[in-house]
Amino acid sequence: MYHLSSFQEMIKKTSIYSHPLVHHLMDLGAEKGKLSREGGDDDKVVAEIMARCFVPSLITTTSWEGFHFVGHEIRITEAMDCYGAVVWPSALVLCYFLETNVKHYNMADKNVIEIGAGTGLVSIVASLLGAHVTATDLPELLGNLQYNISRNTKTKCKHLPQVKELSWGIALDENFPRSSNNFDYILAADVVYAHPFLEELLITFDHLCKETTIILWVMKFRLEKENKFVDRFKELFDLEEISSFPSLNIKLYKAMKKSRRSARYPQRRASKAKGVSSRVFL
Ligand SMILES: C[S@@+](CC[C@H](N)C(=O)[O-])C[C@H]1O[C@@H](n2cnc3c(N)ncnc32)[C@H](O)[C@@H]1O
Repeated sequence: MYHLSSFQEMIKKTSIYSHPLVHHLMDLGAEKGKLSREGGDDDKVVAEIMARCFVPSLITTTSWEGFHFVGHEIRITEAMDCYGAVVWPSALVLCYFLETNVKHYNMADKNVIEIGAGTGLVSIVASLLGAHVTATDLPELLGNLQYNISRNTKTKCKHLPQVKELSWGIALDENFPRSSNNFDYILAADVVYAHPFLEELLITFDHLCKETTIILWVMKFRLEKENKFVDRFKELFDLEEISSFPSLNIKLYKAMKKSRRSARYPQRRASKAKGVSSRVFL
């Protein structure tokens, strides 16, 4: 495992400045003085979380990044061309949380679904912790997701994780019928940003969630629109902030479905044409 400063040196040498983790790690040095003056332990925990990441000492033709969680070295193959092809800091926060909170959020033998799984790191960690995992994302992400998941879970997990397409709001009744959804946990890292599917995302959370399902959602705040999403989310779910990492603009939430009587459902738009259960939003 690399120390943070040596990791920063490594990054400078390999010049992969476009990676989201890299931006954070490069900023962390500058932020460190400020944070320690403020006396919070945010910087300490964030450094600990980020230290779980390492880059290979040999530069190879395929780019991969390494992570240490649950006593395993996890190798993630990335691509630089889309949102789901790199590991985002929110994913590390969620992995760290799952690993260090086994007593309260025990994944063993639980039914878990991850939405917007990207490279699959969170799903891999949940599987290594003993969960039955379904990792989902858009169809174009599934090849790399399946590759990372198979590579890091084969012979290491009690339950082999499944990889499945889930495009938010699309064909939910066909692919994930409510009657057979029985998820103990829904995991989501960095799924809210400037994309046009916030309404569909909310519908998806609602569709997958039963009364007893716990959502563990790590949210990176970038724009005002994200605050609005949280407000809107609170109308359907009881939301509890579990941790906050101000230096990352990241919050970790736990949420559970409100009873139907207290939830404020939006008016339905009459649009079933594309298979999207569309509602007026934001
Ligand atoms: C910022 S990335 C986060 C990836 C991963 N959770 C992480 O934290 O490393 C957002 C993820 O949401 C997925 N996504 C975006 N729009 C989606 C949609 N309409 N339906 C399903 N997944 C979507 C992307 O493919 C991507 O994997």
